[in-house]
Amino acid sequence: MNIFNASGCLDALAAPGVVTQLDGFVTKTVTPEPRAGNQPARIAETSHGMLNAIGLANPGREAFLTDYLPELRSFGKPLWVSVGGFSATEYAETCARLSDVTIEINLSCPNVDEAAESAAEIVATCRAATSLPLYAKLSPAAWDIAEVARAVEAAGADGLTLVNTLRGMALDRRLRPVLNRGTGGYSGPALRPVALAAVYSCRRATALPIVGMGGITTGREALEIIACGASAIALGTVLFADPAAPSRVRYELEEAVSEAGLTSADDAVGIAHEGLVL
Ligand SMILES: Cc1cc2nc3c(=O)[nH]c(=O)nc-3n(C[C@H](O)[C@H](O)[C@H](O)COP(=O)(O)O)c2cc1C
Repeated sequence: MNIFNASGCLDALAAPGVVTQLDGFVTKTVTPEPRAGNQPARIAETSHGMLNAIGLANPGREAFLTDYLPELRSFGKPLWVSVGGFSATEYAETCARLSDVTIEINLSCPNVDEAAESAAEIVATCRAATSLPLYAKLSPAAWDIAEVARAVEAAGADGLTLVNTLRGMALDRRLRPVLNRGTGGYSGPALRPVALAAVYSCRRATALPIVGMGGITTGREALEIIACGASAIALGTVLFADPAAPSRVRYELEEAVSEAGLTSADDAVGIAHEGLVL
């Protein structure tokens, strides 16, 4: 069972020891132009999860391709490049410049419409620009995520990454928003039931492989998202608190698998659709 980091939750060059625990590294979303991101405060903790309004801070496509990507290759791990943009053409132009990676299309970028038609249009434009594997990363805020999943499958996606953050907010003592931007992406444990539901419905709606994420902190939690239909998992917010999480979760997952009476995590994929024979 492959364990990845969630996009934007691990700086590979600053924390190489975490990368070595993973089966592949997923980059922070790359946009065509460099972005400084939003003004601080960009991160806030809440009782059940974390808020971030980083604003897709990244060095931009050219610096990414010439400086950053070659360094990442030295890890010798499969690489996933998260691609963002503000139009279908912007996404596709980045896809066309990549080779020897899996592409994760971040369909939850600010100012990009999340409607099923526009997600499909972005995927179709990227599909025409590259023959690399294309995973569509969907927002759990879609009213019917299964409909979006079907649309991106029809547009040529090879897989789904589920889920991105939900929009959230926290107030300070003076009842003002903690984040400078007001709202931000809400991640961590509170997102887990949302992620399970998204993976479960998309597994029913499509035949695409799913990378599951959203609030996973233990092996048992990993097993649950796998049971809903994920055939790989990713760890995000937990990495900020526990840099040993990938190895720990991998070990705990094996334990959870045998406690469930199964022989391998692969046998658990989608099992929630039938239930365990106890
Ligand atoms: C600080 C931070 C930055 C993130 N940046 C990105 C990003 O650049 N692109 C993206 O697709 N998702 C980004 N995400 C979302 C995560 O990849 C993941 O989908 C989400 O956090 C849910 O997983 P988790 O609850 O395990 O963190 C970010 C999340 C956090 C907390």
